Amino acid sequence: MPTMRLAPASASDYRRLAEARLPRVLFDYIDGGAYGEATLAANVADFAAIRLRQRVMRDVSTIDTSIRLFGEEWSMPLALAPIGMGGLMARRAEAHAVRAAEAAGVPFCLSTVAVCSLEETAKAARKPFWFQLYMMKDRGCVKELLARAKAAGCRTLLFTVDLAVVGARYRDVRNGMGGGLTPLARLRAGLDYAAHLPWAYDVGFKGKPLIFGNLADYVPSASRPGDFKKWVDSQFDASVTWKDIEWLRASWDGDLVIKGVLDPDDAKEAASAGADAVVVSNHGGRQLDGVSSSIRMTPRIVEAVGDRLAVLMDGGVRSGLDVVKALASGARAVLIGRPWIWAMAGRGEPGLAALLRTFKAEMKVAMALTGTPRIADISEGTLDCA
Ligand code: FNR
Repeated sequence: MPTMRLAPASASDYRRLAEARLPRVLFDYIDGGAYGEATLAANVADFAAIRLRQRVMRDVSTIDTSIRLFGEEWSMPLALAPIGMGGLMARRAEAHAVRAAEAAGVPFCLSTVAVCSLEETAKAARKPFWFQLYMMKDRGCVKELLARAKAAGCRTLLFTVDLAVVGARYRDVRNGMGGGLTPLARLRAGLDYAAHLPWAYDVGFKGKPLIFGNLADYVPSASRPGDFKKWVDSQFDASVTWKDIEWLRASWDGDLVIKGVLDPDDAKEAASAGADAVVVSNHGGRQLDGVSSSIRMTPRIVEAVGDRLAVLMDGGVRSGLDVVKALASGARAVLIGRPWIWAMAGRGEPGLAALLRTFKAEMKVAMALTGTPRIADISEGTLDCA
């Protein structure tokens, strides 16, 4: 029997709300993946295939989900992943997200290509947040971004390494995100924007300026997100190697996290280059379709470098149960991407706050019913590997 759907209960409910609220082109941009979306699907399906081990009759009257990492206390081992152009999905999304994350006691990571700038986000924040960096050909710009991040109070830098070139996302091509539309197709796209009135008023009208806030100084001629995207695409530096990480390591004295590692050998390189942590990630299935899911690769990477640096993971985490599965697979913490931007698009800051409460409540139930009341109790033995 269909439910009444009066209140969102899970991450996938927020996905439905986001789909209803957003113009199609924007929903598909956040929801879609590269090519045939096989890796995107595997990220989720491989979590679903993992079985937790039910244990009973242990004292689980007190459950503690907190951890300490990068010198900070986290209320649970989960951070908000960097999401480019978040401010197109909800009014000043990044400034609201940093507040929701702080209230929930988890880190928020601002993307290089966010709508809100480092400075605007810092104004909204009360505590240090994280900054995500793409290596641009213009190293002067990179240096300035690092200095601005530091001035904005960031102490943790996520350096994303899985975007040497950009994977094609069929949904974005079909929706004309990269341009090349006939006048009729452009008209249809325009009508779809106008048909989503609450979004058009809240974001299109009241959410301006819709620019890449961190990059406004470097692309003075740009006025629309598309102009910035062209510049950024031309700036991605495909020549980057581990040598550049050494340069980065020397230029950044906070924690350095390499995001987008999917192979144990690369994880070893990251450790040798002086990184403090890696995020096992395939960019949420948005880059090379056909690579393994992040959760599948997590145990192998932990085995290779877990004693040298912290291993985090992202991709396909859709509930607190998944967080426990990731921890039992060896990850120290997870990042969530789509779930937070779905919640923000669907219900704004209160929606994201509610989603984070849901993740924590789900974690607590999973920890209670696997007999692991503290994070340190979660291990390989928490999984049913039979
Ligand atoms: C991303 N991701 C991303 N990563 C990054 O390092 N910088 C960025 O600007 C973005 N932008 C971005 C936009 C959108 C719409 C999505 C969905 C993802 C990747 C993101 O940080 C994270 O790795 C994945 O989203 C994790 O997978 P899930 O949680 O979405 O399944």
